[in-house]
Amino acid sequence: NKRFAVLTSGGDSCGMNPAIRAFVRASLLRGAKVFAIREGYNGLVTGSIVELDWQSVGGIISRGGTIIGTARSAEFRTREGRKIAVFNLLKNKIDNLLVIGGDGSLTGANILRCEWNSLVKELVDDGKLDQSCLASHPTLNIAGLAGSIDNDMCGTDFTIGADTATKRILEAVDAILSTAVSHQRSFIIEVMGRNCGWLALVSGVSTGADYILVPEIPPEEGWEQSMKENLEKGRLSGRRCSLVIVAEGAIDRQGKPITSNYVKKVLEDAGHDARITILGHVQRGGVPTFLDRYIATRMGMDAAEYFFECKEGSEPVFIGIRGLSTITRLPLMQCVVETQSVGELIKQHKFMEAVKVRGI
Ligand code: F6P
Repeated sequence: NKRFAVLTSGGDSCGMNPAIRAFVRASLLRGAKVFAIREGYNGLVTGSIVELDWQSVGGIISRGGTIIGTARSAEFRTREGRKIAVFNLLKNKIDNLLVIGGDGSLTGANILRCEWNSLVKELVDDGKLDQSCLASHPTLNIAGLAGSIDNDMCGTDFTIGADTATKRILEAVDAILSTAVSHQRSFIIEVMGRNCGWLALVSGVSTGADYILVPEIPPEEGWEQSMKENLEKGRLSGRRCSLVIVAEGAIDRQGKPITSNYVKKVLEDAGHDARITILGHVQRGGVPTFLDRYIATRMGMDAAEYFFECKEGSEPVFIGIRGLSTITRLPLMQCVVETQSVGELIKQHKFMEAVKVRGI
């Protein structure tokens, strides 16, 4: 019997549960045993590993968050922590691991895989594992899915959870606009996304924002004036409110954060009655949308498929989606490295390249 495990790591996102469900059931259907690692990489270190059956993932397709828990684990970042992780995996005879998380979590999986052989040897030398483990589990197969509301991962058009987060943002902005219109106010809405502006950009476009600030294209010096002019044009054309969407990671050309408070002050100095709403974790909550359920289900199924097909020593794979129909498999580290290169491109003022890599 093949033995697979799944963990969710980093910030939770809507769609993680449908991905777990699809992975578990597609694996069970072909005869594998499936285990959940609870609370992200922490569960690997503490040995919190439980077997899942068909019913343990029943009714979760419509639930937000992750039923197996998530965390950002400090212990797993140490080699000693990863040695315990290898021990706990092999104690359960698991050598196929699906990680659902952001680029940091996927990098962690790759490190574990790279160190696998030497850590197994050390555990055998320490007398903690049987010598036969070296031959029976020569490598750790890794598949990664991007679970993040930020949509910041190269190698996929959508990360799991991004669509639901935009839905939450749209609902909130629509609600705010009705009060904004009544008072003729200007609202600054701050959205999540870490150093990625996708959420701000697409929600700004979809709510008719007057101005959008994203990290990938820091505005030119003097942007404050053009923002005020944009808002003014709206008012002159009869709009009774103004809307500025600020990505939480927005920066200026010097790399200095552009805060919502600063935007508010600029608008107040120009005579606006301005208010800030920071949407926060509301964006990560609620029930997953159709799109997140659908892509997560397809990705989860493909991860199971991959583990049945992959050869010993295969490079870790990243499973993504192109458009709404094509599931793709790419080298995991290529996707992680590209994702992480965006920050460097921005620092070098190569904004259009950053946007191209980011795919927004
Ligand atoms: O990466 C997902 C994300 O929601 C970011 O958009 C945000 O900056 C961060 O996580 C918040 O993290 P935490 O939940 O640890 O406060």
